[in-house]
Amino acid sequence: MDEEHDFQETSEEADEIDSELPKEPVKLISEDTLDYHPRVSEPLELLVDPDTGVVVGRSQSFHKKYGPVGLGMLGAISETSDDILTSLVGTPVKLDLVSPHVMFVAGKRGSGKSYTLGIIAEELALAMERSQIEVAGVLIDTVDVFRQMVEPNVDQEDLLEKWGLDDRGFPVAVYIPRRTYAGLPDEVKKKARLYPLAISPRELSDSDWGYVLEKGGQLSTTMENLIGDIIDSLRHGYTLEEGTRQEGIRDFSINDMIRVIESNPAIQDLYKASTQTAMIQRLRRANRLGIFHPGGTSAQDLAIGGQITVIDVAPLGSDAESVLAILTNILCRQVLTYRMTWTDDGTSAREELPPTWLIVDEAHTLVPRTGNTPAKEAIISYAKLGRRFGCSLVLCTQQPSAVADDAISQSDIILSHSLSHDNDIRALQQRAPAVMPEQFKDKVFISSLPRGVALLFDQTTENKRGFIFKVRPRLSKHGGTDRLSGLFEAAKLAPHEEDLKDEITIQEVEIDESEKLEVPSDEFKDDEMLDEIEDEDIPDLPHVPRPPVKLSREDWELLDSWIQDYVTTLFEQKQQEFSITEETAPRETTEPEVSIVDEPIIEDYSDDTDAVIDVSNVAVRRFGNLQPTLLAKAMTRKVLYSRSSHEFLFPTESIERETVLIESDDVDPWDLVERITGILVERGLHLDSLRHEDDFTFVLLRKDEVRVAFSAGISENTVCIPVIFSGTSRRGVSILSDQFRVAMR
Ligand SMILES: Nc1ncnc2c1ncn2[C@@H]1O[C@H](COP(=O)(O)OP(=O)(O)O)[C@@H](O)[C@H]1O
Ligand SMILES: [Mg+2]
Repeated sequence: MDEEHDFQETSEEADEIDSELPKEPVKLISEDTLDYHPRVSEPLELLVDPDTGVVVGRSQSFHKKYGPVGLGMLGAISETSDDILTSLVGTPVKLDLVSPHVMFVAGKRGSGKSYTLGIIAEELALAMERSQIEVAGVLIDTVDVFRQMVEPNVDQEDLLEKWGLDDRGFPVAVYIPRRTYAGLPDEVKKKARLYPLAISPRELSDSDWGYVLEKGGQLSTTMENLIGDIIDSLRHGYTLEEGTRQEGIRDFSINDMIRVIESNPAIQDLYKASTQTAMIQRLRRANRLGIFHPGGTSAQDLAIGGQITVIDVAPLGSDAESVLAILTNILCRQVLTYRMTWTDDGTSAREELPPTWLIVDEAHTLVPRTGNTPAKEAIISYAKLGRRFGCSLVLCTQQPSAVADDAISQSDIILSHSLSHDNDIRALQQRAPAVMPEQFKDKVFISSLPRGVALLFDQTTENKRGFIFKVRPRLSKHGGTDRLSGLFEAAKLAPHEEDLKDEITIQEVEIDESEKLEVPSDEFKDDEMLDEIEDEDIPDLPHVPRPPVKLSREDWELLDSWIQDYVTTLFEQKQQEFSITEETAPRETTEPEVSIVDEPIIEDYSDDTDAVIDVSNVAVRRFGNLQPTLLAKAMTRKVLYSRSSHEFLFPTESIERETVLIESDDVDPWDLVERITGILVERGLHLDSLRHEDDFTFVLLRKDEVRVAFSAGISENTVCIPVIFSGTSRRGVSILSDQFRVAMR
């Protein structure tokens, strides 16, 4: 078939395609392979093509035109019927990839959602390899699970064999935050097909700035005005003190923004010194994420025809949410804008941007039912308008009831794995675009669907019912912890030294309009501070060419083995740094090992709310000569993952946490412990217990549902105490940790 054929936008080829229909009936997947096959009595009428299987997302006439072209295999029907003759069990389920869709994938944690998204991405890649479609697939990944698509799924080889499939990797392009990228060795970047991800500050709207600069997303009016004035000055130019004119620029960095505060007399006259300082601090913090940079990554870099692109923001950790939302917003807006040009001037939108499949994992954080995020409106518009311009959207969530209705209601295909909460089941029932048999509505039934089994509701078979199918095994590897993730961590560690120091020595200035907060002048010798900021800058990265569209399988095998060797060697070299505290990496296990010898010793004060700490009982762990960064890292991990403190800090699953790192040179560590405890007690916390575990003492305090744990370590003359706040309410944790931060000044 001609490679240039465009099935999305032309429809003349029907006859040619018809002649390509395979003449052999489709092979069924055996019932043994589908270990779960419940009986459903309601009759199942679907679009069944004996040569291909059950076809979803297509009308009968559409399928007649395209036949097997542009279908992706999701899995096989796993329900049986009362009448063995009408049972479709084992029939492959094929999804239409030719026309645009809005899909919604739901399921509780661990039910197989992300895995299913991976299947969709694989099928897009395969259909492109067969030259049946040409689209761009963009996968948005917050938990580092899709990058591994480059590797074959060797772990599930047996399962693949049962399905008659072979494992293989796919040449996806992986975009990671610019700073993580800059910290990785060149060879790794090249071989793992990593590319730097950046957001240009000029793309941010006023409300985006709120999310970037302030935790709750809400800037004070003064700060909002200041941001507006800074951006205005940059765009239109301004006059310096000595009268020279600074010309306006189109694109700018965060450092340029800081420079405006420093050098625009109009801003200096208008805003209090404390407001300026507070803004500079917040901008610096945003800059440290290492993702804001002029130029930025555009939709045209990410959405490339024939290419699956993974945007992996996991290395940003807890900051990922707002950054990701801003990025998704920019991406949705740009894709729609480029695609819309099609209708305006008559030329094909394809020249600007290919039809794009945007696949978003964990979407409830981006399009929540209540509250706003920088991405919410853009995703909803994309869901509403995208299909008209050839664009597809796949939203995935563990909490359908927490996703904006406007987004779900656009779906033409809903796929649900197991759900266990009533309101999630209800949300699914209300939105399913096909009939839901009574049996499926039953809580026990839907909460006991095995992993990888899903219900599918398809709008094109509107008046028919949904059905149960088993998702096929992945050809490529589904992510989780791997050695490259460790390398991401290492890369985060490298350029972080300055940052940690900042967090400890530079105090946050609270902006309280009513209270005049003057900063001691020697603390912010402005020029000095700017210099420091320049030093911190990541050197400009060389021009990065766009990824080549295809690599052969042999290339991949070669590259894979090369990367694995490389990473292993690198890890052996890094071993010493990683095992400072002789504990496993947090990602590998959160269950601290139980050791009979080292049972923690507990001094319990939980019944005595007035208990005072006897610091002579507190052990301070002495380390050899360590870099401050490493000391801080090791201590923080120790408090987070030691058995004593971990159990105390994280009694349930959904826990918010905040770390305040206290670091000081030439002080008595016990004085510092006493001071920290004193401040916390003043804020209403009481001592819960002291727990002694392998040469560390964990001081544990609590107030209602907020819990605090810390422990002291010393290297040379540097004392380091990470103080970790945890609790079920974000607000509770933030308020207490902020108050503590202020008091520690
Ligand atoms: N269809 C499937 N076939 C085989 N294994 C699966 C399937 N779906 C999920 N799994 C297994 O379950 C694990 C969790 O699935 P995942 O998709 O990551 O869960 P979540 O719903 O939390 O995104 C995967 O790592 C994989 O091993
Ligand atoms: Mg997942």
